[in-house]
Amino acid sequence: MNNLISSIGNKINSDATDDCSTDLLPDAILKLCRVNAFYGKYQALFDLSLSVESGEVLAVTGLNGAGKTTLTRVISGLIHPSSGCIFFKGINISGLRIEKIQAMGLELIPDRTAVFNSISVVENLKIFFRNVPKSESISELIEKSFEMFPRLKLRAENLAGQLSGGEQRMLSLAKPLIFPPEFLIVDEISLGLAPKILAEIWEKIDEIKKRGTTMLIVEQYIKDVKHLTTNILKLENGKLVA
Ligand SMILES: Nc1ncnc2c1ncn2[C@@H]1O[C@H](COP(=O)(O)OP(=O)(O)OP(=O)(O)O)[C@@H](O)[C@H]1O
Ligand SMILES: [Mg+2]
Repeated sequence: MNNLISSIGNKINSDATDDCSTDLLPDAILKLCRVNAFYGKYQALFDLSLSVESGEVLAVTGLNGAGKTTLTRVISGLIHPSSGCIFFKGINISGLRIEKIQAMGLELIPDRTAVFNSISVVENLKIFFRNVPKSESISELIEKSFEMFPRLKLRAENLAGQLSGGEQRMLSLAKPLIFPPEFLIVDEISLGLAPKILAEIWEKIDEIKKRGTTMLIVEQYIKDVKHLTTNILKLENGKLVA
């Protein structure tokens, strides 16, 4: 993920927060106001505004290249908007780093890079659980993860990069299932998964939702996830169209 940040080399324009006055302070847990985002000179998001109420599950859909992943990146702090503002729990987070935003309770499960491919399943879990309260035992948390996903136990010492797509998604869900964040963004978790595995993944996401997590779910094909959502927005060429 850090490689992504440096390779994009996205400019943080000081305009990003200039017009984020406090009278925009929202009731919504997440609010974006006129957010623009670039990769170099290429504009990927245009004047994008949206809000998510606490407890809501917002689905964002759109074709390849519509800007869905870019939206997840600007909210989670992987890249920064060139202008506009992003409020999380009433605090302007535009320009904050991902670690800081995570510490405030907003987590991202990215599309293809949710696990560390070159280390084992157990080492991944140790990294995921590194910031949990000191009273928690990491080995018990790992055991709990294996109880939730017995397939992962069988692959405990294998490199995460050798896992199937479905097993990788299970690994990425272990921490949010044990410690549901206040806000979870999930980017195309369905990619390449067989229907049976995907149904299991949606069940786990539903479990996280039922424990009170507000969510933004990005999916190109919204059909399977419709029952989980409270609102659906569509992105087209970096703009919201519905
Ligand atoms: N790291 C990058 N550098 C330059 N351009 C990028 C980068 N990432 C995305 N883009 C461009 O930004 C636009 C939006 O891409 P984005 O990944 O947000 O789309 P998406 O809706 O998530 O697509 P997909 O459904 O294929 O995942 C695309 O035109 C893409 O080529
Ligand atoms: Mg994407």
